[in-house]
Amino acid sequence: MPEFFTLNVNGVDREVQDAWLGENLLFVLRERLGLLAAKGACEQGECGSCSVEVGGELVCACLVLAASAVGRPIRTVEGLAEPGVPSDVQQAFLDAGAVQCGFCTPGLIMAVHHLLDRSPTPDELEVREALSGNICRCTGYGRILDAVQRVAVARRGDAA
Ligand code: FES
Repeated sequence: MPEFFTLNVNGVDREVQDAWLGENLLFVLRERLGLLAAKGACEQGECGSCSVEVGGELVCACLVLAASAVGRPIRTVEGLAEPGVPSDVQQAFLDAGAVQCGFCTPGLIMAVHHLLDRSPTPDELEVREALSGNICRCTGYGRILDAVQRVAVARRGDAA
């Protein structure tokens, strides 16, 4: 039976109509709500390319039933900054050369925001652990680690 439910995505209530209750959040975000930042790759929760926040937790959207997210705020890359303006993390990825093919980038951006929101001054081990669920086949990770530290330093400067 087709179902109707409402998801709060990036602060906006979005109606999901005619969905099968078994649809995962990644499918609903991309195919029903037109939010294309989260990427589908492994579809097994292994690569992190579909990382989003649900209720403040970083999750692989491919592993979460969309209907189970009702009542829990969802944050995606599209909600990190004003439209057309990069977040500080996105800008740092560009500045550090941490984007190559870019397929992993939205998931990594979500993971970095999630980390820095909770730990503003992470050491390298903490960063590596926080990003261990996000696979990048292009960059070798060094520039990504650099981007994270650039944001951490800039945010400390902004707060001083
Ligand atoms: Fe290509 Fe990360 S930039 S997979």
